[in-house]
Amino acid sequence: MAAGSGNKGGGSKGGGAKGGAKSSAAKSTPSGRHLSVRVKTARRRNSSSTRWLQRQLNDPYVISAKKDGYRSRAAYKLLQLDEKFHLLKRNQAVVDLGAAPGGWTQVILNAQGYGAGTGGGTGGGSGGASGGLVIAVDVTEMDAMAGAQMLVGDVMDLETEATIRDALSEGAGGPAGGRADLVLSDMAPPATGHQATDHLRIIALAEAALDLAKGVLAEGGGFVAKVWQGGAEQELLKALKRDFKSVRHAKPAASRSDSAEMYVVATGYRGGESTENDET
Ligand SMILES: C[S@@+](CC[C@H](N)C(=O)[O-])C[C@H]1O[C@@H](n2cnc3c(N)ncnc32)[C@H](O)[C@@H]1O
Repeated sequence: MAAGSGNKGGGSKGGGAKGGAKSSAAKSTPSGRHLSVRVKTARRRNSSSTRWLQRQLNDPYVISAKKDGYRSRAAYKLLQLDEKFHLLKRNQAVVDLGAAPGGWTQVILNAQGYGAGTGGGTGGGSGGASGGLVIAVDVTEMDAMAGAQMLVGDVMDLETEATIRDALSEGAGGPAGGRADLVLSDMAPPATGHQATDHLRIIALAEAALDLAKGVLAEGGGFVAKVWQGGAEQELLKALKRDFKSVRHAKPAASRSDSAEMYVVATGYRGGESTENDET
């Protein structure tokens, strides 16, 4: 694991959502009113990347994310999941897996009250001091964000879990006494285009996230993971039902309707696994 390197409070470019985040947090569905952009095929762009670019440029969530200062359109997926399941509250310890470029982290920070001046964010962040602890993890390095600890690491690697535990235990005086209230995974593997392969890869990531969550969650905690449907998620759902009181799934409106993407949302962790940081 390359980091764990104290980026907390960094607040460099692209930090929390800008002032516009207020409106997005209050209403996480863009109006969809915009002029359609047509993209011509350029010499070095093949037709599939032209189609991708055209879809990006015309996507209402891409447009809103730009306007609202979110680093990615994915921010709206978490806002919509939160509208439905009420996951985010002030003063939580939250682990954000697959965090880059940082849209979910911005939403989490706002909910913890780090969105100084925005007043936005579910959970009513109004700026000022926060007792929340936000740990953002990705294999890819991310620009720092005030209030978040950014860790570069592969979730498949056990060392990453150890680094997350250390970060939680450093915040042991904080919300969940060294444990996490929420573990959220928006991780996705690079798509190969071969559906069955991509499905198995994302399920492996979701299972790794669950394994990690069981090592760090406080009793009563919550877990969210992205999956691409395809059959193998049944085992994951079975495991979740053993470990959590409530297991549901959802496809937020911001999740493209032509994708197999959905999110599993589990709440009420039954506990059971001790961590090295536990004193008992
Ligand atoms: C869809 S993006 C996440 C978007 C992000 N939630 C946001 O709101 O901006 C998926 C992320 O998962 C990360 N990822 C994929 N495999 C991973 C792994 N094994 N460990 C950590 N991160 C991983 C990728 O690097 C990528 O940044």
